[in-house]
Amino acid sequence: MTEISLIAARNIYKSYGNGNNILPVLKKISFEIKEKDFVTVVGPSGIGKSTLLNIIGTLDKPDSGSIQFDGLDLSKFSDNQLSDLRLNMIGFIFQFHHLIPEFNVIDNVIMPNLIAEKKPNYSMAKDLLDHVQIVDKINSFPSQLSGGEKARVSVARALMNNPKIILADEPTGNLDAENAERLIDLLLKVREEFDQTIVLSTHNKKLSKLGNKKFEITKNQFKIRDRFK
Ligand SMILES: Nc1ncnc2c1ncn2[C@@H]1O[C@H](COP(=O)(O)OP(=O)(O)OP(=O)(O)O)[C@@H](O)[C@H]1O
Ligand SMILES: [Mg+2]
Repeated sequence: MTEISLIAARNIYKSYGNGNNILPVLKKISFEIKEKDFVTVVGPSGIGKSTLLNIIGTLDKPDSGSIQFDGLDLSKFSDNQLSDLRLNMIGFIFQFHHLIPEFNVIDNVIMPNLIAEKKPNYSMAKDLLDHVQIVDKINSFPSQLSGGEKARVSVARALMNNPKIILADEPTGNLDAENAERLIDLLLKVREEFDQTIVLSTHNKKLSKLGNKKFEITKNQFKIRDRFK
C-alpha cells in the first residue's frame, strides 16, 4: 500500500507585488509532509517562512503549483470549503497568539467549536488546559496572562477541533528563554500524546534542531533535510 502524504506540494511558486515590482518568494518548491512529521522551517527574516506556512494553512494561495491535502487537490476547493478545512483540519499557533481580549481563557479555547458551529465541548477544553498546565487560569482574561501562559492557551486552542496538522509560525518568537523552553517541551508532548503532525517556523536554534524534517529556505535554494533517511 502506498502511503498518502498529508501534504504533497509540487512546484509551488509565490510572488508578491505587481507590474514591474515582482518579488519572487517561493520559487517552485516541492515537498511532502507525512502524518506525525515534525517539520521545522528555518531561514533568515523575510525569506518566506510565514508565506510557506500560510500557503500550507490555505490562508494564502500559490501563484502556481499544486497542493494536495490528505490526497485532495486544494485548487478544486471553494473558499467556503477551504474555510471548513481550516476549521476542522488545521490548528494555528501564532507568534502573538491572537487571543480574543474580551473572552476568558476557556472561551478562547472553545472558539474553534463556536466558529465551526459545533456544540462547545467544555470538558475537552478543560482537559486541554490541564495538559498545557493552565487550568487554574480558566476564568482569567488574556490581559491577565503572561506571554508564556498566552502561548500555552493558544496551543490548547489549536488542538480543540482535533486538527490533522498544527501550523506554528515562530511560536517562541515572543517568549523569554525559559518560556520558550517550556513551549518546546509542550509541543513535543503534543506531538507524542495527540499523534500530531506539526510544522513550525523558528529562529530558535534549539527548536530548529528538533523534529524529523527541516525545510531550509535560502535566497537560491529550498533544502529539505530528512533526518530519518
Ligand atoms: N502581503 C504581502 N505583500 C507584499 N510583500 C509581502 C507580503 N507578505 C510578505 N511579503 C514579502 O515577502 C517576503 C517573505 O515574507 P515572510 O513573511 O514570508 O518572511 P519570513 O521568512 O516569515 O520572515 P520573518 O522571519 O521576519 O517572519 C518578505 O520580503 C516580505 O516583505
Ligand atoms: Mg514570518
